[in-house]
Amino acid sequence: MTIHFIGAGPGAPDLITLRGRDLIAASPVCLYAGSLVPAALLDHCPPGARIVNTAPLSLDAIIAEMVAAQEAGHDVARLHSGDLSVWSAMGEQLRRLRALGIAYDVTPGVPSFAAAAAALGAELTLPGVAQSVVLTRTSGRATSMPPGETLAAFAATGATLAIHLSIHVLDRVMAELTPHYGGDCPVAVVWRASWPDQRIVQATLDTLEAALATELERTALILVGRAIGATDFGESRLYAGDYDRRFRPVGTAPRFPEAE
Ligand SMILES: C[S@@+](CC[C@H](N)C(=O)[O-])C[C@H]1O[C@@H](n2cnc3c(N)ncnc32)[C@H](O)[C@@H]1O
Repeated sequence: MTIHFIGAGPGAPDLITLRGRDLIAASPVCLYAGSLVPAALLDHCPPGARIVNTAPLSLDAIIAEMVAAQEAGHDVARLHSGDLSVWSAMGEQLRRLRALGIAYDVTPGVPSFAAAAAALGAELTLPGVAQSVVLTRTSGRATSMPPGETLAAFAATGATLAIHLSIHVLDRVMAELTPHYGGDCPVAVVWRASWPDQRIVQATLDTLEAALATELERTALILVGRAIGATDFGESRLYAGDYDRRFRPVGTAPRFPEAE
C-alpha cells in the first residue's frame, strides 16, 4: 500500500502525466487539495472510490485519512495542484509518513509558471537577456519569507521572476521591482493559466495598473523581466550552423568526431 503524491497540473485536466492519471485510476482512495485541482481529474477515480477534498482538513486529519487507507490496504492518490516541488505542503506530509513507516512515491506535474509561460507563448530564458528564472512569492498570512529572500534581492540579478501567491499585493510588488528593472520592463499577469477562464494582461511595470480591471482573482502568476515578450535577443549558439556539436560535427577537424 502506497500514498501516491501526484502533481495534478495547472488546471486543464489533460495537463496531467499518464503516470499520474493511471495512479488515480488504480487507487481506491483519492485525497485532493481543493479548488485548484480540476474536478474532471476525479473522473479517473475507480468506481466506489473514497474521494476527499482536503482543503478544510488539518494536517492531522489528512494523515489520519492516509493511516486509515493503509490499515485497509488501500493505495491513495494524493493530488496537489501544479507540481509538488513548490508550495504543495508535501514536505510536511512526507515527514509524517516517514515517521509512521508508510510508503509513498511522487509523480511530478506541470507547474503553473510553465503553464503561464505557455499561455504567453514565451521562453523565459532568452540568450543575452535572461538565463535564470526565480520562482518566488511574497509573505502571506500563513508564511513569512526567510530573511534575504526579498523581491529586491532577486530583482537585483535581472532574472525573470515568476511571482506566486502575490496578486493581492500587486501594487507592492510593482513598487519594489520598478527601481531595479525600470518602469519600461515588461510584466505579464496570467490568471488561471490553462483553465477555460484563463486571462492575460501584458504591460510594463509603469503601465500595468492602468491596464488592469479592478477585479483581482487570487489564482494568478506575475511574470516580470526583460525576457517577457522580448524580440531583440540573440539566437542560441546550439543551433547555429557553424557550431560544432556532437550530433552535428562541423568542418574538417570537428571537436566531437563521430564515432567510427
Ligand atoms: C499554493 S501555490 C501552488 C503552486 C503549484 N504547486 C505549482 O506548481 O504551480 C498557488 C499559487 O500558484 C499559482 N497558480 C497555481 N495555478 C495557477 C494557474 N493555473 N494560473 C496562474 N497561477 C497559478 C498562483 O500564484 C497561486 O496563488
